[in-house]
Amino acid sequence: MDLLIKNGTVVTEKEMFKADVAVKDGKIAMIGSDLSDIVADKVVDATGKLVLPGAIDAHTHLAFPFGGTTSSDDYFAGTRAAACGGTTTVFDYTNQDFGETLLETAKRREAQAMKEGLAVDLGLHIGIKDPKPELLESMKEAVDYGVSSFKVFMVYDFGVKDGVFYKVLETAKKYGALVAVHAENNEMVLTLTEKYVSEGKLSPWYHYASRPEFVEEEADRRAIDWARALKAPLYIVHLANEGGVRAVTEAKDEGLEIYAETCPQYLYFTDEVFKRPDGRNFVCSPPMKGQASQDALWAAIKRGDIDTVATDHCPFQQAEKDWGKDDFRKIPNGCAGIENMYPYMLSNANQGIISFPKAVELCSFNPAKIFGCTDKGSLAIGKDADIVIYDPQKKFTVHNENMHSDSDHTIWEGLELTGYPVQTYSRGRLVYDNGEFVGDSKWGKFIKCASRKH
Ligand code: URP
Ligand code: ZN
Ligand code: ZN
Repeated sequence: MDLLIKNGTVVTEKEMFKADVAVKDGKIAMIGSDLSDIVADKVVDATGKLVLPGAIDAHTHLAFPFGGTTSSDDYFAGTRAAACGGTTTVFDYTNQDFGETLLETAKRREAQAMKEGLAVDLGLHIGIKDPKPELLESMKEAVDYGVSSFKVFMVYDFGVKDGVFYKVLETAKKYGALVAVHAENNEMVLTLTEKYVSEGKLSPWYHYASRPEFVEEEADRRAIDWARALKAPLYIVHLANEGGVRAVTEAKDEGLEIYAETCPQYLYFTDEVFKRPDGRNFVCSPPMKGQASQDALWAAIKRGDIDTVATDHCPFQQAEKDWGKDDFRKIPNGCAGIENMYPYMLSNANQGIISFPKAVELCSFNPAKIFGCTDKGSLAIGKDADIVIYDPQKKFTVHNENMHSDSDHTIWEGLELTGYPVQTYSRGRLVYDNGEFVGDSKWGKFIKCASRKH
């Protein structure tokens, strides 16, 4: 064997049990209550520690051209930070260029990622901007290539109208792909923005005020309506409002194949952050909502109506966030979080708010299952040896200096956690060790995802 992790408590999406884990050729080869007879090149004693599958961050924006600039983590910086937070697979959203087939988009960004470097494995989702029939039809070749999830934005200047959204859902259903949606009502955002601007109300609070709860809920319900009409599966990204949670619960109860993702920022912060002197740093879309929405998200997690937690990692440097200090419209939307998701969710498990298997289900097992990532998402024989060793006693305070992203600030500054990852293995290779990135930029692979027809 190449690696033997002994005496730890293994956590799967279902249960926790004391076991040793043996790794060979990047795969989990054996899991057993006593593998002390096994000879391995490297033996790690995990006494008192948890042994978990690496997280899969199903929603990032690396090197993302957006808001008049480009997000500040390229593929290497973003995946390096991921590794240091126990995330071993990153699914990045990349947008199609006008006139480009979806296969061309996938290959263009795969090439960029390979050039910039990958510390852990990468999958892609493609945001649809140009819905010309022949380009939409190119979804088939992208799916055959291993990109099986596509996104529509209902907002932003590149967002699509309902008819296009409907056609994307229809095409995706035909080719066994999954559509993800950013749901906010664009007309309402524009109307409310105009109103506040005309009243001279330009502070970061008005970013939230122009995208309040009902703006998101209406779009969630409309998106679900189109999915219902077509009997097509749908994945709602970064769900952040109480009414939208209700809509998802109703849809699931009705038997629709609707998946919901939320993000740590909606589980930890509320709209109060926009009143802070550094409120601009928290500007993202959808914005953090009121306490009732946060409570509804946690309740939905506990009920099983939220399927995944992902970060929407899209950091911008302080100077770029400052563009909108006195005018919320100029703030590039997005925040850092790729290194914080798993430690934050696991610390909730450590406090008994959710169970450790639930954290694994949300952050690893479900994203793998939903996005056709067949080699990952669980500690099971034959799966990739993407493993995190977590010390439930370790105290850790988040400071931007101890993060591994290229972002020059973090909204998680000062967060105190009990319990933290101490080692991360990507396909059996140590990439993070007690505060230090020990991997390299040539390690991560582009992963191909199965379509829903397999
Ligand atoms: O504010 C955000 N979320 N920025 C990234 C783009 C998106 O909408 O997901
Ligand atoms: Zn979005
Ligand atoms: Zn996003």
